[in-house]
Amino acid sequence: MPAPRPPIRTAVFPVAGRGTRFLPATKASPKEMLPVVDKPLIQYAVEEALAAGVSRLVFVTGSSKRAIEDHFDSAPELEAALAEQGKTELLESLRSIVPGSATCVYIRQPAPLGLGHAVLCAQPVVGDEPFFIHLADDLIDAPVPCLKQMAEVYARHGGSVLAVQTVARSETDKYGIVATDPVSERVSRIRRIVEKPKPDQAPSTQAVVGRYLLSPRVFDGLARVGRGAGGEIQLTDGIAALLAEEPVFAYAFEGRRYDCGSKLGYLEATVEYGLNHPQLGDAFATILARLLADRLRRS
Ligand code: UTP
Repeated sequence: MPAPRPPIRTAVFPVAGRGTRFLPATKASPKEMLPVVDKPLIQYAVEEALAAGVSRLVFVTGSSKRAIEDHFDSAPELEAALAEQGKTELLESLRSIVPGSATCVYIRQPAPLGLGHAVLCAQPVVGDEPFFIHLADDLIDAPVPCLKQMAEVYARHGGSVLAVQTVARSETDKYGIVATDPVSERVSRIRRIVEKPKPDQAPSTQAVVGRYLLSPRVFDGLARVGRGAGGEIQLTDGIAALLAEEPVFAYAFEGRRYDCGSKLGYLEATVEYGLNHPQLGDAFATILARLLADRLRRS
């Protein structure tokens, strides 16, 4: 019997993008610090990675990203003030953001040359082992955290695993799109991957979303590929090179994705998470119903 595959211990969070779609909110503060109800997107991301068993959290940061480091650092003055005021629940919510068993590493991407370049910047820390990439602006609400689902696919099939979702054909030019051969109900093997194809040229409507479990061989491809779509070094091109060497699987994850990199997707997530919030949900639903009724009356 083959030896079981070692668990994935590293997650890379590329957070060095410009976030232009959210300007001016993202002028001085990172997109990944936008809150959904009461937690920033990057905290949801870290929680998902920790739930998948990760112990090394690697943030690829750029300019205006200091807030992310501060968020995952201890805050002795604030903690002392909360302790003095007896606000133990809040104090615990701060202290549990990152458990002591996990390590945070920050790497600077010198300029936003693309997602592929950001991932390549993490190579010295990731080393020669498989790793996750998590894009915090893709928020996924799932019965089993998405990265954990992908780790289970990896345990069964090995190789690399990309989370995919079916999108409208008119939307293919916003995503990496894959052509695949079926393996099992939610898993297929990728034959081809194309970055942001026009709808009439897309090989399918299966789009890669912001969760990847990659073999370290992807770094070889990333080091070779030049600038691709949009003049950026594309992760998709690195994965296209990997495909020629090793199996890469597409996994149709279970759960609901919110594109929090777009204003509408972010609003949708905020409303949905607000409605599902154990303390706020009912009161929020009442407010929403009133606002919608007012709007309908006026129209
Ligand atoms: P996006 O395509 O969403 O780009 O990047 P962006 O710059 O963040 O946002 P817009 O399109 O200008 O509004 C996808 C992910 O890749 C990271 C981003 O931080 C985001 O998590 N990224 C992108 C980098 O870390 N470095 C880059 O050079 C580009």
